[in-house]
This record gives sequence, structure tokens and C-alpha cells, in this order.
Amino acid sequence: RKSVIRITTGSQALDELLGGGIETLQITEAFGEFRSGKTQIAHTLCVSTQLPVSMHGGNGKVAYIDTEGTFRPDRIVPIAERFGMDASAVLDNIIYARAYTYEHQYNLLLALAAKMSEEPFRLLIVDSVIALFRVDFSGRGELAERQQKLAQMLSRLTKIAEEFNVAVYMTNQVIADPGGGMFISDPKKPAGGHVLAHAATVRLMLRKGKGEQRVCKIFDAPNLPESEAVFQITPGGVAD
Ligand code: GTP
Ligand code: MG
Repeated sequence: RKSVIRITTGSQALDELLGGGIETLQITEAFGEFRSGKTQIAHTLCVSTQLPVSMHGGNGKVAYIDTEGTFRPDRIVPIAERFGMDASAVLDNIIYARAYTYEHQYNLLLALAAKMSEEPFRLLIVDSVIALFRVDFSGRGELAERQQKLAQMLSRLTKIAEEFNVAVYMTNQVIADPGGGMFISDPKKPAGGHVLAHAATVRLMLRKGKGEQRVCKIFDAPNLPESEAVFQITPGGVAD
């Protein structure tokens, strides 16, 4: 049996909320409004995953599937420096791919799985997991088919996490929830319905605080205490 590795987010408060960091063998989902920090967490994890395990890293490579074109290699440089790592070596260990359709996204996962059987990866990022599905199945009456394809994609992610002892970090969007929901003033809920809820092992709900401050809560975990972690987005990535 493979043993779980916990990878630091860069914030001790956030790590504590997660029980030590994001975990391999599992899928961690982050959702929240625009600029709530989902992509900045991804950038920080790209670096921290490459730290030795003794420094709360995963000592492994990173695969990054970007559906929105928001990955910034220049952003990796100050984050690597903050962790005392060589930026160009860190960048070399991030395998990046832009996906343009949901089918392309699925095929990239198959190609990455082949790569992971040859090289030691510890993190797979999918930012965002659902955006292309919402574009490619935007017509009326297409929801059932969308959910079926989404389930296929998510089961592939679960398989990768378990087969290669990789942490999957995927981001999700929020959608309007006219029926109420989490925020009374501005009712929203995570997209993807039950299919996505079922696939994610840990669901992080992010919101903006003052300035560069962000607040994270574990969503929908009745057996965990209702706690929040406050972190900052700094030039060196996610921090306390
Ligand atoms: P969407 O993808 O639009 O839904 O948002 P997101 O949740 O992915 O937000 P993202 O992680 O992109 O956070 C954006 C915020 O990160 C900005 O509002 C800034 O506060 C911060 N940020 C982005 N780039 C930098 C940077 O280079 N330096 C610093 N210090 N902060 C940055
Ligand atoms: Mg983003």
C-alpha cells in the first residue's frame, strides 16, 4: 500500500486546516469567487511539491493542465526564491499543457498518466476542472451528457491519484444558487453537482478578505470542526 504524502500550501494555518497539507492519493478541490486565490494556490503548490519531504514537500514533479490560460511561469520565479530553490530547475519540473476542449483535457490526462509511469510525479493540477465542460455542453438538454463525461474525467483523476501516489488539486467555479446556498447575501454554490461533490475528497471554499488576505473553510465535511484558515497572497506565493 502506498503511503500518503502531505504537501505544504505555503501557509501553516491552511496546512493545519488540511491536517498537514494537501494529500497524495486524494483529490483536493478549491472553489470560490474570482480572485479568491485558487490559481495562486496552484502556483505555490507547483513549487512546494518539489521540496524534499523533510521540508513538507513531495520531492516530485508537477503536471499542470490549464484550461483558462492563467498559468504564469514568471510567477514561479519569486515563489521558488522564497523557498530557496533554483527557479529554472523548478520550471523544468513543471509539465504544462493548455487544454482547449473537454476531450482534449481528457486526452491530456491519458498522456500524463503514461509520463507518470516513467517519472516521479507528486502533483497534478487541473485549473479549472469544469470550465470547458460548461462551454462545450452549454446547450439546453445537454446537462445529463455533460455530467456523464465529467464523471469519466473525474474517475480518471481518482485513478491517477491512486496509481501514482499523486495529489490532485483541481479548481472549480461557483454558480448562482437561486434556492439559497452558502452565502445569504449572494447565494452561490460550487458547480458540477453531485458528480463533482462525490469525486472530491476535500472541498475547500475560498473567499476574499481584506487586501491580500484570503479565508478558507472546509466545505461539506460534517465530521470536521467548523474552522477557518486565514492566509495571504504574497509575492512569494501563499503564506501566513
Ligand atoms: P479566477 O480564476 O478568476 O476565478 O480567480 P482565482 O481564484 O484563481 O484567483 P487567483 O488565484 O488568480 O488570485 C488573484 C489574486 O492573487 C489577485 O487579486 C492578487 O491579489 C493575487 N496575485 C496575483 N498575482 C500576484 C502577484 O504576482 N503577486 C502578488 N503579491 N499577488 C498576486
Ligand atoms: Mg484562477
